[in-house]
Amino acid sequence: MEQFVIKGGRPLVGTVEIGGAKNAALAILAASLMTSETISIDNLPNVTDINALLEAIERIGGHVEHTGPHSVKLNCAHIDSFNIDCDCIRKIRASYYLLGALLGRYKRATVPLPGGCNIGNRPIDLHLKGFRSLGAKIDISHGMIVADSEELTGAHIYLDSVSVGATINIMMAASMAKGNTVIENAAKEPHVVDTANFLNSMGASIKGAGTDVIRIKGVEKLHGTEYTIIPDQIEAGTFMLAAAATKGDITVKNVIPKHLESISAKLIEMGCQVHESDDAVRVVATRRLQNTHVKTLPYPGYPTDMQPQITVALGLASGISIVTESIFESRFKYVDELTRMGASIKVEGSTAIIEGVERYTGATVSAPDLRAGAALVIAALTAEGYSTVEDIKYIERGYEDVEVKLRELGAVIEKVEEEKDIQKFKLKHA
Ligand code: EPZ
Repeated sequence: MEQFVIKGGRPLVGTVEIGGAKNAALAILAASLMTSETISIDNLPNVTDINALLEAIERIGGHVEHTGPHSVKLNCAHIDSFNIDCDCIRKIRASYYLLGALLGRYKRATVPLPGGCNIGNRPIDLHLKGFRSLGAKIDISHGMIVADSEELTGAHIYLDSVSVGATINIMMAASMAKGNTVIENAAKEPHVVDTANFLNSMGASIKGAGTDVIRIKGVEKLHGTEYTIIPDQIEAGTFMLAAAATKGDITVKNVIPKHLESISAKLIEMGCQVHESDDAVRVVATRRLQNTHVKTLPYPGYPTDMQPQITVALGLASGISIVTESIFESRFKYVDELTRMGASIKVEGSTAIIEGVERYTGATVSAPDLRAGAALVIAALTAEGYSTVEDIKYIERGYEDVEVKLRELGAVIEKVEEEKDIQKFKLKHA
């Protein structure tokens, strides 16, 4: 089983290139099924969730050509099945996007109920409410969602709570429905906007993405396009928090600073310097971090996907910090692991009360999910001595070559497979 072994205690210094946004890419790849013409996608992150979705697209007859390390050409002219049921797709939560895409183009789809990271109860009732409003019949049986309709018709859909997945899914299906659709209380995340821009570049007519109300005029046909995915806001934020926690100086490059504003604001409150330029943000931390309070919220609020990383940093700050998780109820599972590194954090319901400690100490910890796994790596980078982070398969779902990028910033980290490799690492870095 692969794991990261880390010797902590060094500030991270240097520049890191941020890749394409995983969560935008998942939606965009699924939307590529909606035309028979060829789609070229660039800035695609090479992470396991993306590769699982590409495999699922191939399984139903899509043709995928890797034209470079971060680019693919997709042709979905010969989709021969609307029933997607393979191990690859059961592992990822974004399988639900295949439902919106296939329903939009073919008016039918059968997809397994989504898997993905275990961060709490993750209903899809709002997706289904949206599809039903467009006229689809939905059935759930034997672990599969079965959707079909004679014809999709535009509708006025109010989302009872803000959902990224439901907004994108309804946007995809409605793009090929008859007539007009309005989504109210829509999610405004950068990847919602990126997916809308992508669909528009295929000939869809979507207005208002990035605001609470999205208006879609259905079209009969979508066409091929060439598209570059936006930079990953969460990968960038993770390195920004790594700079803060290790008292380092990191420039994240190839980012859209506007997407990082809530993270930059919190880092400034914590006493870091944040310098923005056109496509880069530099975070400098020279002294002990100060406490602050954080509440996760839909965009433009502070992202839930950055909650574990800031909790790890606040665990080292002076004073008491309070972090409230308002999106997913089980997103504090990593706190037990962090406690083993010396953190003093009490979780009560959706709130973590953090009493900052001077330092963490190295330990063997296990990644409970993607973002919590990245946060534990940050903790290990600050910790005194050696740490091992197990279950890194979760981290690799969403971070490309994270250990390589960290090494380039001066971290002492290796990916190893066996106990003897850990011993070798310790001898080498004694
Ligand atoms: C997306 O998940 C992301 N995943 C998540 O990133 C991210 O944490 C989340 O948005 C919030 O930003 C992808 O883009 C593939 P939601 P999603 O629907 O779409 C409730 C990562 O680490 N809800 O916006 O599944 C839900 O329970 C992952 O990269 C319903 O009640 O999230 C939650 O409380 C983890 N009914 C809230 O809405 C529904 O039908 C927001 O969820 C749908 C959601």
